[in-house]
Amino acid sequence: MTRPSAPAQRRPTVALLLGLALAFCLAVLSIQSSFFAAPGAPGRKLDLDADDVRELAGFQSRVQQCVASRGLGLTADIIDHCKLVLKFPEGTNSTWYNAQFKIFEPLEYKYDVCETILLWEQYRNMTTVLTREYLDVRPDGWLDYAAKRIAQLGSDKCYNRTLCDELLSILLPAKPPFHPRQFATCAVVGNSGDLLKTEFGQEIDAHDAVFRDNEAPVNQKYAKYVGLKRDFRLVVRGAARNMASILKGSSDEALIIKSLTHKEINSVIKELPNPVYLFQGIVLRRGAKGTGMKSIELALSMCDIVDIYGFTVDPGYTEWTRYFSAPRKGHNPLQGRAYYQLLECLGVIRIHSPMRAQRVEDWSDIPSKEEIGKAHAAAFRLKKHETGQPDDLTPFSNCKVWGTVDPDYGPVSGTSDMSETRKNSNYSKWEKLPFKKLRKEAQEHHIQMGGVSLYKMDGNKLDDLVCVRHEHSSS
Ligand SMILES: *[C@@H]1O[C@H](CO)[C@@H](O)[C@H](O)[C@H]1NC(C)=O
Ligand SMILES: *[C@@H]1O[C@H](CO)[C@@H](O)[C@H](O)[C@H]1NC(C)=O
Ligand SMILES: *[C@@H]1O[C@H](CO)[C@@H](O)[C@H](O)[C@H]1NC(C)=O
Ligand SMILES: *[C@@H]1O[C@H](CO)[C@@H](O)[C@H](O)[C@H]1NC(C)=O
Repeated sequence: MTRPSAPAQRRPTVALLLGLALAFCLAVLSIQSSFFAAPGAPGRKLDLDADDVRELAGFQSRVQQCVASRGLGLTADIIDHCKLVLKFPEGTNSTWYNAQFKIFEPLEYKYDVCETILLWEQYRNMTTVLTREYLDVRPDGWLDYAAKRIAQLGSDKCYNRTLCDELLSILLPAKPPFHPRQFATCAVVGNSGDLLKTEFGQEIDAHDAVFRDNEAPVNQKYAKYVGLKRDFRLVVRGAARNMASILKGSSDEALIIKSLTHKEINSVIKELPNPVYLFQGIVLRRGAKGTGMKSIELALSMCDIVDIYGFTVDPGYTEWTRYFSAPRKGHNPLQGRAYYQLLECLGVIRIHSPMRAQRVEDWSDIPSKEEIGKAHAAAFRLKKHETGQPDDLTPFSNCKVWGTVDPDYGPVSGTSDMSETRKNSNYSKWEKLPFKKLRKEAQEHHIQMGGVSLYKMDGNKLDDLVCVRHEHSSS
């Protein structure tokens, strides 16, 4: 608690030194006036940086309070204005054993709050579905990137563009089918066995959109635990093979394939009425992060409020379970729990779980939108200063590649050999959704962004974006 105020105490000293330095400079300058204005700039920058550091230090202590009141035993130790450590209480049962390093899962996790807030606030404005415009605008889009999204291509690049287009066209809308801020509230439902301890079904169904993972069943048997509403489902390739059975009972649920497509998946899609797309933000050729985190990323790219259910976030969790089948070996539960708690205290998600079920819905200990906005702006400016870049805070400062497309450009996804079921269903309704039908907030966002869509370039970082301008605002 003493740390955050340290920069503020140091500030008068800094100002005094700057003042002295400036006086000295002016004295020198009165003789050598050709250097005028040069010494003023760094001083002003330091001063602004000090303001930002103070802003972030204040924000850190808000996060610390939030973790203390919501963390179910977790505590936050502040290291500086950006870094903090989340700690599980002494004696927490750490059961996940890393055979490679011969250690149990640690009880402490260090985070950079500045980086985390920059990353996750950016997702709110991103397009997370692969589109034709992305492949067209990205310089290596078709040759390199498209090839990475097709399995069994027989080549590491799309030397035959026609072939790659054929393989992708059924899941390749011309423009983003979904929009930032399209929904007010969303529920992301994980698969944890914890879901059977509570009856969140009705609450989940009350959201504007519901996101699920892989083969999670939605039926009367589990309705009171996980609800019946289905809008989006993020699946890995293995699950995509069983699409027809997963989607049974829904012709509307949009399937977002997390990894790759290939001929076999395409032939199944041709028979389905459902919209099916490829996730854009996938981390290629590196240890894939859990599907859960990707679902949150997907939800955040279209929802204002993201409520998560069925993620293993309560203490005492020693076994990896699923609500509908025998447990599977999972990843490191303590690490995930700590990170989800951080995300909740950064206003990214709201956690719902058995140990929190009895609580009154009260989010007042989470920093407000305004506080988060200020912290984001401060973290942004500091980072730009560190890397010596201009700090004009625009949503486009990270755009590395720009492209422009006509709003009426490109076909709706599909191929000529689709089944009648698919042709006659309204899988394309998202892609043809008139601008005027969008939620007011999504329209406002579109206008504020000047009709520009933002896409990730690669990996988990969002420093490099591909930005596509839609020339005439579509009506
Ligand atoms: C490229 O792929 C198309 C579609 O599969 C095929 O008809 C054509 O023969 C291929 N071209 C070459 C040069 O292999
Ligand atoms: C820790 O968890 C393991 C695995 O579930 C269990 O066998 C053990 O008894 C637990 N230890 C304590 C102290 O709770
Ligand atoms: C996100 O979009 C909003 C407009 O809806 C804009 O004000 C904000 O600066 C953008 N933020 C980022 C990080 O791009
Ligand atoms: C098309 O979409 C509408 C609105 O979402 C829905 O009511 C209707 O059942 C859908 N039709 C088919 C054939 O899926």
